[in-house]
Amino acid sequence: MADGIVEIAGLSKAYTQGHEQILVLEELDFRISKGEFVSIVGPSGSGKSTFLNIVGLLDDVYSGEIRLFGRKLEDLDEAEKAALRLKNVGFVFQFDSLLPEFTVLENIEMPARVLGSGDPARGLELLRRFGLEAIARKFPMEVSGGEKQRAALLRALRNDPALLIADEPTGNLDRHNSAVVLEDLRRAAGLGAAVLMVTHNEELARRADRTLRMAGGRLEAAD
Ligand SMILES: Nc1ncnc2c1ncn2[C@@H]1O[C@H](COP(=O)(O)OP(=O)(O)O)[C@@H](O)[C@H]1O
Ligand SMILES: [Mg+2]
Repeated sequence: MADGIVEIAGLSKAYTQGHEQILVLEELDFRISKGEFVSIVGPSGSGKSTFLNIVGLLDDVYSGEIRLFGRKLEDLDEAEKAALRLKNVGFVFQFDSLLPEFTVLENIEMPARVLGSGDPARGLELLRRFGLEAIARKFPMEVSGGEKQRAALLRALRNDPALLIADEPTGNLDRHNSAVVLEDLRRAAGLGAAVLMVTHNEELARRADRTLRMAGGRLEAAD
């Protein structure tokens, strides 16, 4: 299986609305490797978030075959999937929220503490590596929107996830901060994570290693 972090074959997903079945993903194939940065573009409502939620183990109602970190999801029970998600998947969303009553560093430490491996020195090291040590002891209300989103990204990276999922991570940011967050995502891939990002911004999307377009329920190469 080598470096395949996510391997998907024939993924289909339908939502039921009233009496109707709406097919959102249809026989979709996908693959991402260790250290690869893949972006996904596509119109609103085309199924991008639906796809990310399935890949990130937040939704298990689908048909098709998914291998995550070499393991077939169909073979795992709920507890195994929850453990896999906690240890191996990091998420960043458009409106990410840090807990306001904790410092940036404490927020970043949170996922590690959940696993019983909290260590502020490691959180600080992460902040340093991304050039953010100056905000370690500030509270969320004391930092800028861009810094908040970057801190949320570091929180997602804290447990060294093999897979980082970012759903419109720059959707709420200005041009400059969007570019900075994109560089952070590139750096995360450089450190070994497979990074999967959805964005509306075609210019940012093209800075990934590979860009895919969601269309007709499938992912195709974007030119
Ligand atoms: N929980 C849900 N129940 C019913 N339909 C949904 C649900 N979530 C999303 N959809 C529908 O599925 C389609 C894809 O949604 P989504 O994956 O959020 O698209 P995107 O992220 O590309 O904007 C849309 O038509 C949306 O209305
Ligand atoms: Mg979406």
